[in-house]
Amino acid sequence: MNTSVLIAPSILSADFTRLGEQLAAVEDAGADWIHVDVMDGHFVPNLTMGPFIVEHVRRATRLPIDVHLMVENPESLLEPFARAGAANLTIHVETCPNAGEVLTRIRSLGCRAGLTLNPVTPASALADHLSLADLLLVMTVHPGYSGQSFMPDMVAKIAEVRQMLDELHSPAWLEVDGGISPGTIVQTRAAGADVFVAANAIFKHPQGIAAGISDLRAALHS
Ligand code: DX5
Ligand code: ZN
Repeated sequence: MNTSVLIAPSILSADFTRLGEQLAAVEDAGADWIHVDVMDGHFVPNLTMGPFIVEHVRRATRLPIDVHLMVENPESLLEPFARAGAANLTIHVETCPNAGEVLTRIRSLGCRAGLTLNPVTPASALADHLSLADLLLVMTVHPGYSGQSFMPDMVAKIAEVRQMLDELHSPAWLEVDGGISPGTIVQTRAAGADVFVAANAIFKHPQGIAAGISDLRAALHS
């Protein structure tokens, strides 16, 4: 397991009328990556952002951009997102019968290759592709919206993926996404996660963005 822990604010809960300011605020508050949730209205019911937004985020921050592709047929979007400045491109295993090839293609575009799975998909669905991934993401809500409740049943899945990675001595990051808050982050860290995505806990924190990030870090260190 990586000894460092990364915080990746998801701009899905940001105020888009002030996106530049909010990106500067998360960067100043010590965020590590910017998480961008791409939804196509098919794989998930919601419709969100495309490469155009990533291009603008790229100009507003120095932080690596972590793109989570909740889309059918992600292959056609890899190059546009890589060109727009994505550092990480994460695909859902449910959308790719040929996930290994897609991960290889992501690496050939110079990005970190990420693989994720829905809460209903077993960890075993990742098994054949672990050596081709730089990042594994365990969803802890059903993808589609920010502000949902953390699914405690997913803690065992995080531990299972951690074990699979450790058996291979894989240096891949293990990320969690959905319902992460000071109350839930500790159990996901204990299960072996090292990258923590959070939208509402950061952008909707009553005391502001910096407090959102420092509360998450404080929970990890308590
Ligand atoms: C959900 C997205 C998440 C979402 C997290 O489909 O993948 O990244 O923005 O939102 P919170 O942290 O509010 O649960
Ligand atoms: Zn996400």
